[in-house]
Amino acid sequence: MNDMKIIGFGHYVPKTIKYNDDFKTIVETSDEWIKSRTGISKRHLTDDENTSDIASKAALMAMEDAGVSADDIDLVVCATITPDSFTPSTASKILKLLGIKRAMAFDISAACSGFIYAMNTASAILTANNLRRAIVIGAETLSKIVDYTDRSTCVLFGDGAGAVVIEATENKSVFYCMSKTDEENILYANALKPQGVFKGGLIDDYHLKMNGQKVFKFAIEAVNDAINSALNTAGLTINDIDLIIPHQANERIIAAVCRHWNLDFNRFYLNISEYGNTSAASIAIALSEAHHKKVIGKGNRVMLVGFGAGLTWASMIIEL
Ligand code: ACO
Repeated sequence: MNDMKIIGFGHYVPKTIKYNDDFKTIVETSDEWIKSRTGISKRHLTDDENTSDIASKAALMAMEDAGVSADDIDLVVCATITPDSFTPSTASKILKLLGIKRAMAFDISAACSGFIYAMNTASAILTANNLRRAIVIGAETLSKIVDYTDRSTCVLFGDGAGAVVIEATENKSVFYCMSKTDEENILYANALKPQGVFKGGLIDDYHLKMNGQKVFKFAIEAVNDAINSALNTAGLTINDIDLIIPHQANERIIAAVCRHWNLDFNRFYLNISEYGNTSAASIAIALSEAHHKKVIGKGNRVMLVGFGAGLTWASMIIEL
């Protein structure tokens, strides 16, 4: 358990919106198929903004919400699977864009669970190093790695960023993070592969590939396990949680989880219809949106639940 409190929330999505019907010009699909299978109506896609650009806009909103300046930040952690570059990290670029002069900065790659892994890591670093404040970001420009000739994946994903400013306090936050090997390669995007000594690397097919049905089955088990494990660690029951903010991958996954826990749909915060699946950004965007729309507020107990490539899954309970 680490001691931290969220003091500012921010999110940002690129301006260009693509509706389901827009995909009919590039693949054989329909608004009806996409909406009924996933719950998605539209998504925001980047034109020329890279991950660090949208991440820093979300971070700036969170800093303004918290009332802190660049000099108040000791650490920047960015969860992403679509960094601007192999090196430097996206977090290092964000540091520069925000005008932060001295802070630790690095990226975390845990796909759609990345924001929770990043929150866990950031709060542990604050505690261990006696530091005060961190910006934790989930940001993706997934459109860079989506194959727009593959109808089974291209309609699902969107771009965006969410961020929080966290501060070391006496509040006890509960984290549960887990990974297992994806032996069957059911969800992946490759990078460079080695060509041999003195020959360097070769660009592999970097497009995101997914066996949707296998991931769907894994996701339901992972969400149930993540909820259960966080509740056990915290010594709470599901009724002690005011709102669950899950990774936004598919409304049907959440419907199955509701049936398992005998919960109403409205116990979950869902915005997938607006943004699609934004991987590491999705929970962070939803958290910030729920805060700014006043769906959650001071004193509420919120659970975040992530799942994705790795395979990874994670949960977090925090009191606002
Ligand atoms: N439009 C129309 N038809 C389509 C489309 C489309 N966009 N995409 C696929 N189809 C077709 C298929 O070709 C198939 O046709 P066939 O029966 O003639 O072969 C049919 O629809 C059914 O396809 P399924 O893959 O069985 O559809 P399913 O109901 O499983 O829905 C989906 C697919 C939405 C991807 C679902 O499996 C899912 O949500 N999986 C989980 C995704 C997820 O949680 N990802 C995790 C995180 S992502 C990350 O970590 C980066």
